[in-house]
Amino acid sequence: MKKNRHSSTAEATAAVRAWHTLHHEPRILDDPYAIDLTSGAWRRICRSRLLSWLTFEWVLKTLKPIAAEIICRSRYTEDKLEAAMGKGIDQYVLLGAGFDSYALRQPPGAEKLRIFELDHPLSQEVKRQRLGSHGDQLPNSLEFVPIDFEAQTLAEVLERSSYDPQKPAFFSWLGVVQYLPSNAVASTLETLAAYAVPGSEVVFDYLLPASELSPSDRPILERLQRFTERRGEPLSSYFTLADLRTMADQYGFDVVENFSPADQGAAYCQEGNHGLTPFTGYPIIHLRRR
Ligand SMILES: C[S@@+](CC[C@H](N)C(=O)[O-])C[C@H]1O[C@@H](n2cnc3c(N)ncnc32)[C@H](O)[C@@H]1O
Repeated sequence: MKKNRHSSTAEATAAVRAWHTLHHEPRILDDPYAIDLTSGAWRRICRSRLLSWLTFEWVLKTLKPIAAEIICRSRYTEDKLEAAMGKGIDQYVLLGAGFDSYALRQPPGAEKLRIFELDHPLSQEVKRQRLGSHGDQLPNSLEFVPIDFEAQTLAEVLERSSYDPQKPAFFSWLGVVQYLPSNAVASTLETLAAYAVPGSEVVFDYLLPASELSPSDRPILERLQRFTERRGEPLSSYFTLADLRTMADQYGFDVVENFSPADQGAAYCQEGNHGLTPFTGYPIIHLRRR
């Protein structure tokens, strides 16, 4: 992230959810709060049918498969969270929450869920301002936990929160690991293992290295690299499934599922979803603590 500035990529992902919610029917994810959480410039684009078409279908057309993954990853995570709640998990920790609005969209039956939004203090400050009047609708069970992953450990901030390390939890880590060096991903998983009792679950998405992509899909990754770099948030790590299996195993996690881009498409992007086909280099992985 740029020094002294909140996350610009988090605004872009909120804009994708706002665009999808405002202009697509049927929807993979219904996120009516995303429009108020993104930046003023993205808000103007998303509210206009013409500007949003020009932006998402023309200027950023190459990145449309990335947009599809952004929408699918939230939907997948919320589906898995619901299943976890059914098994009695009542703590939800969002690592790098950005402008995620789940706390405002909690489905009936989720009232007992304690939600911990961990994010950079600058991103969190802007989110709280943009929540405006929606802030009154936030559940009392939501706790904002500021963290600068580059200066603080996950362990120290969880210690300071009301997170209960004796109870299982569900962790989401969406759109974040690709911005961290691979050793930071490993050390976060190691810390998570210490704070996640058996049965706890983790969902995150990751980018495959270019060598795993077909030549026709590599330009999508190159376009994403340029897009994030220009926003001061360059991509940093790429993993194969074999890398993540080894890492997960080392820290005591089982891989429940590697939800491939083809799986995402088959599950969520059926006809009528406006040509949303998830990028072949963007799988989602679901882990469970042994
Ligand atoms: C691409 S956004 C993803 C946001 C959200 N999870 C989503 O899916 O829309 C990346 C998030 O990582 C957070 N982040 C990046 N660097 C960070 C750091 N050093 N410490 C804490 N959070 C950081 C940003 O504030 C931002 O919210």
